[in-house]
Amino acid sequence: MRYCPFLLLLLFFASCEKEPVSPVDTTPYVLELPPHFPYPDIPEDNELTEARVALGKMLFFEPAMSVDSSITCGACHKQSLAFADDLPISPGVRGRLGFRNSPTLVNLAYLTKVNKDGGVPKLDIQALVPIEDHAEMDLPILHAAERLNADPEYVDAFQRAYGELASPFTITRALGAFQRTLISANSTYDQYLMGEVSLNAAAERGRQLFFSDATNCSSCHGGFNFTENGFFNNGLYETYEDWGRRRVTGLPEDDGVFRVPTLRNIALTAPYMHDGSLPDLQAVLEHYNTGGTTHPNKDNRIQPLHLSTEQMADLEAFLHTLTDTSFLTDQRFKP
Ligand code: HEC
Ligand code: HEC
Repeated sequence: MRYCPFLLLLLFFASCEKEPVSPVDTTPYVLELPPHFPYPDIPEDNELTEARVALGKMLFFEPAMSVDSSITCGACHKQSLAFADDLPISPGVRGRLGFRNSPTLVNLAYLTKVNKDGGVPKLDIQALVPIEDHAEMDLPILHAAERLNADPEYVDAFQRAYGELASPFTITRALGAFQRTLISANSTYDQYLMGEVSLNAAAERGRQLFFSDATNCSSCHGGFNFTENGFFNNGLYETYEDWGRRRVTGLPEDDGVFRVPTLRNIALTAPYMHDGSLPDLQAVLEHYNTGGTTHPNKDNRIQPLHLSTEQMADLEAFLHTLTDTSFLTDQRFKP
């Protein structure tokens, strides 16, 4: 067989060379927002870049992030359900159950405190909780980093995103970057605000009720994201098994207090409340209409509303206009 000694020599040197390291790719990722959405604050140590967002998405759908490689973040946060789940409590590895309902992951870039009790100060470290939690992915994050650093594709992706290997810092930052891009701003209601569509009669009556003193809904679920991230007790129980914010502060006045969740895509994220105890929107509206329990921390805006069956149906019709179908099929958020 004829061979070329020069070529062989070249191959020899090429194979002895260190793996080429990709340079950091700083191509910015710009969020597309309608005029009624402010541009969110992005942390200086985690500017949004295409490479970071792409890496975060890989990690979000990576089974190796769970101890037995059986589940991903996407197991409990499903795009078709606005990144929530349809079970009261979603199982983690080996079918283990936690104690809270999987929330939607939309417009997280605007969160001021993370998790239902506000126990996590910023999105960029939240991922530590599900990765390490016994009832979720149960993998020490340093083991996750080792696994990722054994995979040349990930080594390259981390280099392009952060110029570093996978570490607790870069893993959580990349997941934060991807999750900041999960913007839902194209619901029927947004199209209505931009003058593109009108609401049907029932939804329009519901809109007026929602924003009125007759219901007080918008005083807690207000603003472009249908929450101003306040913490309140909405009178769900006399005695809370889950202390809510009291778990974080230890204060009795925080017993049964939870962060006000966004209502965007609310028609898709049943069951409702911190424990998924209310099966549908009718049950939620029934709860508010009766005024809830007499818990000492119950906010005084939660009072019997005396709404008619028709008014409840109108409110529900309005809540349905907060569904953003383009978000559910957006290719950028698919694995
Ligand atoms: C076993 C189901 C499960 C898995 C797997 C899971 N989550 Fe969650 N997620 C939840 C539950 C339940 C909560 C509510 C926790 C709380 O509020 O205390 C939550 C809360 C969150 C929040 C906070 C949202 C908010 O509004 O405060 C973020 C962000 C999040 N998860 C991202 C992730 C990421 C990233 C992963 C993968 C690394 C992941 N989750 C894996 C169930 C899960
Ligand atoms: C005092 C503040 C406050 C008022 C007023 C209020 N809510 Fe809420 N709402 C909350 C809090 C806090 C939660 C979360 C409670 C929990 O997780 O257990 C919540 C939860 C919900 C949920 C479930 C969200 C989810 O993802 O599980 C819906 C739907 C809802 N509210 C709709 C309404 C409507 C409609 C009105 C008016 C009739 C209203 N709220 C009035 C504070 C309020």
